[in-house]
Amino acid sequence: MDKLIHLILLSGLFCITESIQANLALKGTATQSSIYLNTWLAQHAIDGVRYGDAYCSATEERSDSWWRLDLLDVYEIKTVIITARSDGYLFQTSGAEIRIGNSLDNNGNNNSICAVTSDPLPGNTVSFSCHGMKGRYVNVVMTGRTNNLALCEVEVYDTENLAVNRTATQSSTYDTWTAQHAIDGVRYGPDPLGSPFCSHTLSVSDSWWRLDLLDNYDISTVVITARSDGSVYQTNGAEIRIGNSLVNNGNNNPICAVTSGFLLGQTISFSCHGMDGRYVNVVRSGPTSYLALCEVEVYGRISVHRRRTFLSLKFSSSHYTAAESDKILHQLQSVLGSNISDFNLSWTQLPKKEEEQQEEDGGPCVKHL
Ligand SMILES: *[C@@H]1O[C@H](CO)[C@@H](O)[C@H](O)[C@H]1NC(C)=O
Ligand SMILES: *[C@@H]1O[C@H](CO)[C@@H](O)[C@H](O)[C@H]1NC(C)=O
Repeated sequence: MDKLIHLILLSGLFCITESIQANLALKGTATQSSIYLNTWLAQHAIDGVRYGDAYCSATEERSDSWWRLDLLDVYEIKTVIITARSDGYLFQTSGAEIRIGNSLDNNGNNNSICAVTSDPLPGNTVSFSCHGMKGRYVNVVMTGRTNNLALCEVEVYDTENLAVNRTATQSSTYDTWTAQHAIDGVRYGPDPLGSPFCSHTLSVSDSWWRLDLLDNYDISTVVITARSDGSVYQTNGAEIRIGNSLVNNGNNNPICAVTSGFLLGQTISFSCHGMDGRYVNVVRSGPTSYLALCEVEVYGRISVHRRRTFLSLKFSSSHYTAAESDKILHQLQSVLGSNISDFNLSWTQLPKKEEEQQEEDGGPCVKHL
């Protein structure tokens, strides 16, 4: 019998699943222009630990200090999130250029600029949109300054803020501080002229705010920014809830986190580990509870349940063995791999003899909503 499997004549169901979005920096390696005290290693900025100063990178106090991440592959970078020291040395992270590209000229510091970290930094963790800039290297460089460059965490994502310009609503509205201001793409506010760049409810019981993403996502991170002009308590102690139900206005969906510890104007990021949902609620319970949100950002990917794809093909051979089934999967993986990255292939139903090609929309890969 012919040992070669003819893929065109293949039958059986298999399922392609992309992996859920993750911080690309964790797969890379880091280096920097010098090492403060020989212990603040470049690698500490990509160790997955945001806070704690022993876990930061820092250079010595020299001119044009730089830090470089090698992602080991070229990505379209949409978001870079930087966390500064939490013990009062924010200037060691402020006014730095974030550069992205493929060149190592001038140690990578001549690649294109995505953003410059503001000076002073408005909070410990700040997010920058790089709009799909392509590159293997991400540099942070203090051009023209003589400073230590400290980075407690640098996160790199190829996903963008899903919340911006979607639909938001809230339980009540204070003056002109509508729900939509929390997803207008402007993090900080209100501005000195009093323009309400934040959402704000009345002080009534159980105030809530709800974002409708209009589709089902696996949500990895929710990033919230508090008021910078006072009343920061209006953002603390709120539940972040994610799900697909509108029962009780969506406030019964599962909890990702409860906000706490916000300082004036601070941005804090909450990990939701791929929680599945269309709605993101922020709820502040209590008899009289204002709820103010200057920005809510949501990062994630279209739901895994939507990303699974069935292929059904016809297969004819005199008999099948487990080894042949495996071989088929391996060959398909290498053929498909040129178009799709980061996926798994598995049989959901082993090949049957002489089965007609069929459309399949049910089975273990699909969750019906
Ligand atoms: C990097 O850019 C600087 C300033 O534009 C320039 O003087 C220098 O020659 C460049 N270095 C390399 C290696 O391209
Ligand atoms: C959101 O909408 C506003 C108003 O239409 C527009 O100016 C802004 O560029 C949009 N932002 C994004 C990120 O699409």
